[in-house]
Amino acid sequence: MARALSFTAGQLFLRQQAMHVVCWRQIHRCMSQGSSRGGSPGKGGPKRKVAVLGAAGGIGQPLGLLMKLSPLVTDLALFDIAGTPGVACDLSHVNTQAKVEGFAGDGELGKALTGCDLVIIPAGVPRKPGMTRDDLFKINAGIVKNLCKAIAEHCPKALVNIISNPVNSTVPIAAEVFKQAGTYDKAKLFGVTTLDVVRARTFYAAKKGIPVEGVDLPVVGGHAGITILPLFSQATPKMDMTEKEIDTLTKRTQDGGTEVVQAKAGKGSATLSMAYAGALFAEACLKGLNGQKNVIECSYVESTITDIPFFSSKVRLGPKGIAEVLGLGKLTAYEKKALDDMAKELKASIRNGIEFVKK
Ligand code: NAD
Ligand code: LMR
Repeated sequence: MARALSFTAGQLFLRQQAMHVVCWRQIHRCMSQGSSRGGSPGKGGPKRKVAVLGAAGGIGQPLGLLMKLSPLVTDLALFDIAGTPGVACDLSHVNTQAKVEGFAGDGELGKALTGCDLVIIPAGVPRKPGMTRDDLFKINAGIVKNLCKAIAEHCPKALVNIISNPVNSTVPIAAEVFKQAGTYDKAKLFGVTTLDVVRARTFYAAKKGIPVEGVDLPVVGGHAGITILPLFSQATPKMDMTEKEIDTLTKRTQDGGTEVVQAKAGKGSATLSMAYAGALFAEACLKGLNGQKNVIECSYVESTITDIPFFSSKVRLGPKGIAEVLGLGKLTAYEKKALDDMAKELKASIRNGIEFVKK
């Protein structure tokens, strides 16, 4: 009996191990394909140093892990105000190529940033139930401003991916800091809105009963409430949708962050899905840097495709960052109205960010 039991346990263990392998293979495949469906150069590719600022946090830790798993990263710098030596030691035992180093406290920020090709910033406080992303401005604006000053000094040519909220203001803050430092290049600054795309794909696939792996659609505007606008009319594969379905899925995508904040009931906001989305976007940036063709993702960037100076839309990524900001395509009446409705709020958030640095 005991023998039979241990045999079953052994079988279970092997099965579990096999499932882990399948899962990791899927994660690797998803990350190297992303939505741009491209391959990755893997071993023998260029050296790429990536820094995560806020690396000991809820997003920072799983994002650090996903970057450690990325075949595109050769050096990974993990910076936070505290806790990063432990996170870095832990991650450094993972048998993938990226060399991991932890840096803690302002005194080590310069070392973390030196030589970076890509800096990802999830540093800052997350929402609690009842808060808006704008309520985070007071604390996070200053954090992003100081980190960007250090980027301007230590790695002015790096691509910068800003995750810290409110993204609608923190990206203009970063732009203004870089302008004041004389290092601003609009092709290198990105607000990460990939989580909105990830959510819209998931909700669309579930509603239409189709496999999510094949689904793509742009999400434009900004990253807060009504400024988030999924363009379901441009979703692929194209499925018939009623007006009610479009409205419901649009609102669910706009409220996706709040859905997680409420479910976590005071213990923060989206971290795991954000780490996944952040890694997808970071990998797209690295693919672009490495010269891979046709890498396209949505991102909140300096833009002239509307009269809103920072705006999220599809961008083509290239060896110097943004190669092209793509237009909105044909919009439905519902989408046009949503675009009009968001303009005032988005412009005000942008103004707040710029004024914060100027004053
Ligand atoms: P968290 O509190 O778990 O982690 C934040 C980390 O930032 C902490 O480890 C903290 O020590 C660190 N930090 C604070 N000040 C710092 C500084 N000056 N330098 C370096 N590190 C510093 O929070 P989280 O859940 O990881 O969320 C982080 C931010 O990301 C929040 O602002 C949140 O709203 C935002 N967020 C954005 C998106 C998006 O789609 N763009 C999605 C989810 C969360
Ligand atoms: C999200 O969309 O999940 C993030 O912006 C976090 C939040 O506060 O909603």
